[in-house]
Amino acid sequence: MLKNSQIKIQPVKTQAYNDQKPGTSGLRKKVKVFQQMDYLQNFVQSIFNCLPDLVGSTLILGGDGRYYNRESIQIIIRMAAANGVKKIILGQGGIFSTPAVSHLIRKHKALGGIILSASHNPAGMDGDFGIKFNISNGGPAPEEFTDAVYAESLEITQYHIGPIKGIPLDILGTYTLDEMEIEVIDSVNDYAELMATLFDFDKIKALIASDNFKLCFDAMYAVTGPYAIRIFEEILGAEAGSVIRSDCLPNFGGGHPDPNLIHAKQLVDIMFDVEETGSAPNFGAASDGDGDRNMIMGDYFYVTPSDSLAVIAANAHLIPAYKDGLKGIGRSMPTSQAADLVAEKLAIPSYETPTGWKFFGNLLDDKRITLCGEESFGTGSDHIREKDGLWAVLCWLNILAERKQSVEDIVRQHWAEYGRNYYTRHDYENIPIEAANKLFTTLQANLGTLMGRIFNNRTIFIADNFSYLDPVDNSQSNNQGVRIIFDDGSRIIYRLSGTGTEGATLRVYIERYVKDINEHDLDTQEALYDLIETAELLANIIGYTDRHEPTVIT
Ligand code: G1P
Ligand code: ZN
Repeated sequence: MLKNSQIKIQPVKTQAYNDQKPGTSGLRKKVKVFQQMDYLQNFVQSIFNCLPDLVGSTLILGGDGRYYNRESIQIIIRMAAANGVKKIILGQGGIFSTPAVSHLIRKHKALGGIILSASHNPAGMDGDFGIKFNISNGGPAPEEFTDAVYAESLEITQYHIGPIKGIPLDILGTYTLDEMEIEVIDSVNDYAELMATLFDFDKIKALIASDNFKLCFDAMYAVTGPYAIRIFEEILGAEAGSVIRSDCLPNFGGGHPDPNLIHAKQLVDIMFDVEETGSAPNFGAASDGDGDRNMIMGDYFYVTPSDSLAVIAANAHLIPAYKDGLKGIGRSMPTSQAADLVAEKLAIPSYETPTGWKFFGNLLDDKRITLCGEESFGTGSDHIREKDGLWAVLCWLNILAERKQSVEDIVRQHWAEYGRNYYTRHDYENIPIEAANKLFTTLQANLGTLMGRIFNNRTIFIADNFSYLDPVDNSQSNNQGVRIIFDDGSRIIYRLSGTGTEGATLRVYIERYVKDINEHDLDTQEALYDLIETAELLANIIGYTDRHEPTVIT
């Protein structure tokens, strides 16, 4: 309850919206949707209404710098003041990466954090905006919380907002609004300090200083620009220009800041030396809009996120923060099983969770896992409660500094030791929602008839919709993706995206394990050819969507 003294201004009457249901990662909508009358205010008040300890609390606030970031921040500050928040810690210019917020929540023992981002979705006036709330452990709010926020948003009739007082977002310092304190801090400092405690910066510096080592980091005009410049160029000594597309622009330069082979084409072209300069950098990486995703490359070589998790796990003992061993490894269900093989060898548990970072939080808090990752270019550890793009890049640099081998050699040796999990994801974006739902309902209805059937010499032995029982709090999450598992360990997974803002996105994940080293040189799509065919056959993708090809293959 609010104390009377804290309500200086009458609450504002508002009309509820019926579409404020958070998805895999917060509420994401077109900017224009967020700009509707009281739309942002309703959602923020709904979050506040679900926080019984809000009065007198500290919140961390910042975003990935996309269009509407600054305006939203001014609104949220005024609402926080009117709702009795004691202190807001704000990133300079309204900028914080998602991992930085997660760290600051933990460092300051804050009640939580509000992150303004739609992650890798395009930005700008016609692009997407988003807002997510992270709880006091630094991780994304669990479903129970986001469901409660949604319920509030359907019923909301009023919100509280303080007086207009433009806070100078760009100038470091402490300001007040009513009784609330706002501290504008450097967006990068705390995060960079945390990284220095985890990795051997001296060894990485030496690697970067060596004559035959060159790195390229693509910030994709999004939030990691300032972080990467500070850490790679200023602290670790990479030459100026090693970080490309480093300005954090409100429209992300018109691009789609998703670090994959398609959207990070600039980096891919540099790493594959398409301009034939004769020297590709030895190491390349990119991060997404809000800095939690990463893509890792070597010269003429791409590392799949699933392999990256497995390689980091297998080499974690070389990194100071993990030198005493890992407690366990978590991966999302559609992520390839490569990390499980490492866990088995290390004799530590592995966990298979539904898609979305929120499921790793309990496992990390309960000290069951140290590392976790998703096939969607997300990797992380117990240092925070979000996936962390730059952290993953530093893991690789630390491993390279210790092993003094190329990225490709390290990955090939890994396959030789553990076998190779060929893996691909096919996305069919922006298909009509009705068609996607029909495809999915039919697929589900047919699951019972699939057991024991043989396709291309493989027998199906599991055909179900994945359910997860959280071993820490016993909560159950159902319908987390259709799994078709064959007797040779190959898998086909189907999911509908929970983060898109236009139509539906069907994701098809395909995996095949090959132990024989003589078969580790195949092209991924060729190696998976017959499974891709089966995936089409089982779901009749062409029939329902009239799409003959995926829009994105990763
Ligand atoms: C996607 C990814 C998922 C990730 C999420 C947030 O969700 O697939 O792994 O956690 O973005 O970054 P989806 O759109 O598939 O629901
Ligand atoms: Zn992201």
